[in-house]
Amino acid sequence: MTDRIAPADHPIEHALAARWSPRSYDERPIPTAALAQCLEAARWAASCVNDQPWNYLVTRKAEEPEAHAKLLACLSPNNQGWAVRAPVLMLSVARTDFASSGKPNRHAGHDVGQASANLAAQAAALGLQAHQMAGFDAAAARAAFAIPEGYEPMAAITLGYPGPAAALPEALAARETAPRTRKPIAEFTHLGAWGNGGSPA
Ligand SMILES: Cc1cc2nc3c(=O)[nH]c(=O)nc-3n(C[C@H](O)[C@H](O)[C@H](O)COP(=O)(O)O)c2cc1C
Repeated sequence: MTDRIAPADHPIEHALAARWSPRSYDERPIPTAALAQCLEAARWAASCVNDQPWNYLVTRKAEEPEAHAKLLACLSPNNQGWAVRAPVLMLSVARTDFASSGKPNRHAGHDVGQASANLAAQAAALGLQAHQMAGFDAAAARAAFAIPEGYEPMAAITLGYPGPAAALPEALAARETAPRTRKPIAEFTHLGAWGNGGSPA
């Protein structure tokens, strides 16, 4: 299955509904222009004082095979099992101090997440899909790529065209086709007071 439109309760932009996190990837490379568009979308994310604390280590299996293998080796074995097929593997990295003042940026992780959300939505708009992962060894990634102090690896991210669920081992294939679910709006919206759960519509 390569199409997993979110069953949204209220209409949302197509790219947001079409974004999902596949584990089955088609191995064909993605156009360079499409990769640039995804990074461009990340570039235009909002950030605290426009500090833009995001960094992306980008490894393309075809163009940077050694770096790709090095980054893949940092993933948890479970993630490695499926992520190996994606043509692009990235690492998002946050600069943890403001570039302007050198003071700690408490929102760095938030802002890198926003940039990655933009990247993922742009990918979905192009028929690609990104899959973000916490399952990687941040210390190993730091060592493998000489990421300096002051920068924090946040998430590994695959990018590529989604492939058929049937290409995955049985357990993963079942997850790939399971219904997409979310908490209702009222469970995370506090209308006017903390604990006053409710949906505005
Ligand atoms: C920060 C972050 C870490 C994640 N870590 C993993 C991971 O290590 N392995 C994995 O298979 N999926 C991982 N995911 C994917 C989530 O499981 C997925 O986004 C969630 O189940 C919702 O599914 P959807 O993205 O298809 O809507 C991660 C997602 C995010 C945003």
